[in-house]
Amino acid sequence: MQVSRRRRRLALTSVAVGALAATGLTFASANQALAEEGCEVDYNVVSTWGGGFQANVVITADEAINGWEVKWDFPSGTKVSNAWNVGWTQSGTGFTGKDVGWNASIGSGQSREVFGFIGSGSSATPGRFTVNGDVCNGPTEPPTSTTPTDGPTTGDPGGGGDKVDNPYRDAQVYVNPQWSARAAAEPGGDAVADEPTGVWLDRTSAIYGNSSPTTGSMGLEDHLDEALEQGADVVQIVIYNLPGRDCAALASNGELGQTEIAEYKSEYIDPIVEIQGQAKYADLRIVNVIEIDSLPNLVTNVTPRATAVPNCDVMKNNGNYVDGVSYAASELGALPNTYNYIDAGHHGWIGWGDTNPQYDNFFAAAELFGSLIGENGMTADDVHGFISNTANYSALEEPYWAVNQNVGGQALNQNPNLPWVDWNDFNNEKDFTEAMREELIDNGFNEDIGMLIDTSRNGWGGDYRPTGTSTSTNPVTFVDESRIDQRYQKGNWCNQAGAGLGERPQADPEPWIDAYVWIKPPGESDGASEEIPNNEGKGFDEMCDPDYDGNIRNGNNPSGARDNMPLSGHWSSEQFAELLENAYPPVN
Ligand code: BGC
Repeated sequence: MQVSRRRRRLALTSVAVGALAATGLTFASANQALAEEGCEVDYNVVSTWGGGFQANVVITADEAINGWEVKWDFPSGTKVSNAWNVGWTQSGTGFTGKDVGWNASIGSGQSREVFGFIGSGSSATPGRFTVNGDVCNGPTEPPTSTTPTDGPTTGDPGGGGDKVDNPYRDAQVYVNPQWSARAAAEPGGDAVADEPTGVWLDRTSAIYGNSSPTTGSMGLEDHLDEALEQGADVVQIVIYNLPGRDCAALASNGELGQTEIAEYKSEYIDPIVEIQGQAKYADLRIVNVIEIDSLPNLVTNVTPRATAVPNCDVMKNNGNYVDGVSYAASELGALPNTYNYIDAGHHGWIGWGDTNPQYDNFFAAAELFGSLIGENGMTADDVHGFISNTANYSALEEPYWAVNQNVGGQALNQNPNLPWVDWNDFNNEKDFTEAMREELIDNGFNEDIGMLIDTSRNGWGGDYRPTGTSTSTNPVTFVDESRIDQRYQKGNWCNQAGAGLGERPQADPEPWIDAYVWIKPPGESDGASEEIPNNEGKGFDEMCDPDYDGNIRNGNNPSGARDNMPLSGHWSSEQFAELLENAYPPVN
């Protein structure tokens, strides 16, 4: 986890266009009123014949561009057999076309017929087009409202036909008996032992049940059978085994090497799909939380950022995170009863939107997520939503201060001398998820996507929790006295001392949030506080060492980690006790 520094910011409402301009892109998004002025794609079918058609594509740009990449989803079954003046690929229904150099530029306010192609199947015009990652007006206007739908089963065209809008609504969520037993065995643990937590398939053997202390002896099928026993409606599975996993850290490096994408697909994802797809589970809604931290790392921890980590450069350049995540979402999303939520980091990592690409994490992340559409046949319908703060500690809300509040004559998030805020556009997960959701829709995801927030350990109750807003006029003192998040810095991610359980899992807490969830099972370590030899592929990360003074990714602050912690995923009674003690809302 890390944050990047930034010098300038724009209000999020005005950034959409400006940020793109700085990256050489000038398209506004189709879901905003201003979108209609940004770009347009015309899809002109010039002739049709039995089973085939010829079409040409015209791009209109409001401001000059030099270089275009256009994407759309065909009606299912439509295939391109031949195309000219374009570098193109098709994966499933997803089509991507790129300029071939000489036809890269389109003048301001100009329309240019950029390429043509021959297709077979339906010649119906695709519903949505993106150019350079931005949704622009297609011939069919995308829906104008981005307000989440409220009723059940509204408008989710989901892969399987009748997926519900919010799988958590009115649902009983599966309680993992292994976590529950550990929690119940701790003093006071009974009070939360019946809360639902995520089941982490953190290596291939976990699918079958390996009697490791992390995952216990129950395999995926055991959990799903047990969920049926419990009469549960929803089960929460964490898909977490990418090649070269956790590229910026060491504590949760996985078993697959950086190039082992074929193994990931055939030995890990395919068997999971097969199990989840069994007829006996047809009535279970299976939530898959997909690959924590992977894509956000490709935004912030790569060259040319000062925060670059060589392993993240490798994963970005070899494409295996994008390949793996889109494959997982596509294959799992094709089942009729699965609900995919892709990991979107958290506000303390991705919360910086900027006109300068060097400092922008927010828009770049949404664009990267959007670029998955079309990869491995993944469609927008394969993604039910996104999750923030998984296994992290970022607060749900900061009740006593606003990030753009004026203190000492300057907005807090414009103050160059305020390390806690550091120009971030957000100070909490609620605001972050609301804005990110809009941005994701602008990048091609469905209007009715919902967000999840992992509230397992972001309560920040206990003695240090402030009870009101500071009266100081010194911005640093003001924020330090007002903030509930007690970390040294938001880039701190390992076993944070002082943290407490957050909001108990619940459905529909806000219109854009499907649920607060406990994906990280409270009491399970983020990483060992000192080197511990093991055969789980777990390394030692200094961010888990309480004596470590940090690095650029946490602004060179102390790690804030607890001492005496076991390997990631292993149980710590002490950490569990502290989480209980500092719970907010308090545990009765
Ligand atoms: C670990 C996994 C573990 C998960 C949940 C991760 O940090 O790498 O092994 O299952 O946390 O505790």
